[in-house]
Amino acid sequence: MAKQVNRALDYGNWVSKRLIYTFSILGIVLLALAFLVWVLVNPALLFLVIASYFAYGRYLFSPKGGNVQNRIWESVILNLDWNGEGQALDIGCGNGALTIKLARKFTAARLTGIDYWGKRWEYSKSTCEANAKAEGVNDRVVFQKASALKLPFMVGKIGIIKGEK
Ligand SMILES: C[S@@+](CC[C@H](N)C(=O)[O-])C[C@H]1O[C@@H](n2cnc3c(N)ncnc32)[C@H](O)[C@@H]1O
Repeated sequence: MAKQVNRALDYGNWVSKRLIYTFSILGIVLLALAFLVWVLVNPALLFLVIASYFAYGRYLFSPKGGNVQNRIWESVILNLDWNGEGQALDIGCGNGALTIKLARKFTAARLTGIDYWGKRWEYSKSTCEANAKAEGVNDRVVFQKASALKLPFMVGKIGIIKGEK
């Protein structure tokens, strides 16, 4: 019998680890060099402050911190001027959070999430699909690799957040 894996949801974080590591490494290297060339101490400290700022932002966005990301997704869904009839396209879907949350709210809707899943981010199509399966909406949600600059769809109506003209 196949082993059931109870996989945790992974909706990622808008502040990538790569960003934090890059500034931390730059700061540490410059700090080490500052022992030889003391003027490097100022940029070293600046990079370390920037790294700390991003690390704190990542913490605030995460469920373990302020869960800010989730509050933004909920707010977008709450203010979406759509009754769930038909289909919706989530452009730049990341790990599929909005796509999946919409599918959970609108139980008859069909959703497509696209992203180019570049190396700059920690998102992937396979994580989107695993998240959709874990949330029980994989039968109505499709994820596709595509660029916003060359959409493989005919898009009818855009700009559906309440209050926008
Ligand atoms: C800040 S992340 C947000 C992800 C997701 N919407 C969310 O709320 O978690 C931005 C996403 O947009 C995607 N993206 C940026 N430019 C894009 C483009 N031209 N075409 C497709 N995806 C793009 C990135 O790959 C990334 O996954």
